Amino acid sequence: MGKMLEAVDLTAGYGPVTIIENINIEVHEKEIVAVIGPNGAGKTTLMLALAGLATVKSGKTLLNGEDVTRLPPYDRVVKGLVLSLERRRLFPDMTVYENVMAGAYRRKDREEIMKDYEMVSELFPIVEKRRKQLAGTLSGGEQQMVALARALMARPRILLLDEPSVGLAPIARIAVFEKVREIRERQGIAILVVEQDAALALQTADRAYVMEGGRIALEGSGTGLLNSPKIRESYIGL
Ligand SMILES: Nc1ncnc2c1ncn2[C@@H]1O[C@H](COP(=O)(O)OP(=O)(O)O)[C@@H](O)[C@H]1O
Ligand SMILES: [Mg+2]
Repeated sequence: MGKMLEAVDLTAGYGPVTIIENINIEVHEKEIVAVIGPNGAGKTTLMLALAGLATVKSGKTLLNGEDVTRLPPYDRVVKGLVLSLERRRLFPDMTVYENVMAGAYRRKDREEIMKDYEMVSELFPIVEKRRKQLAGTLSGGEQQMVALARALMARPRILLLDEPSVGLAPIARIAVFEKVREIRERQGIAILVVEQDAALALQTADRAYVMEGGRIALEGSGTGLLNSPKIRESYIGL
């Protein structure tokens, strides 16, 4: 299957500061790929670099084979690369409907937008059920569902999710990852997901990368890493 997204020797950070070094990752069509690793490993920085929101020092980002390293963030969105950031997910004082529609804010294809809205409200029943409720009054798990719905309104071909389950109760975390799988099945898109809960991420992902100290320390299949003694010891506990 074709490569949707690829980082080639990507080195990036913030201004003069380098945080991630020589990162090589790839995400194929319809794949779910996880990035796990301790706090401060550079996972969020990697997502920002892929989205065009960090300072790239060297290396390349390829989207569908096209070099997008110098492309501004929004042009990457138009090409189908959509990032949903950790926290900062919803506008709390806007309704659920307004939040969801915000995902399509630069699109002009009205009819297609309404079709996508129908699709996301079918995938996320809460979107219709709580249409007029202020997003800030939803539970954390509900807010994450609305955030996923909003991201889908931008029509991603590859969706980048930074810790979609952070701060949620275990049941809500599982629900988020079930939804991630459902999005892949129903929309046929690729998903790159950063996750602290290594067990949950590895159970869901086809493949995964382990980041440590700004570098890729290990990579493998989800189940392979899940069963690796080193991973179990460092990230899952016995
Ligand atoms: N805006 C920033 N400016 C400078 N350094 C930053 C910035 N954001 C994060 N960092 C630093 O980058 C490193 C990696 O952070 P981050 O990518 O958020 O890791 P993770 O998501 O794996 O927890 C940390 O040392 C953090 O302090
Ligand atoms: Mg992070």
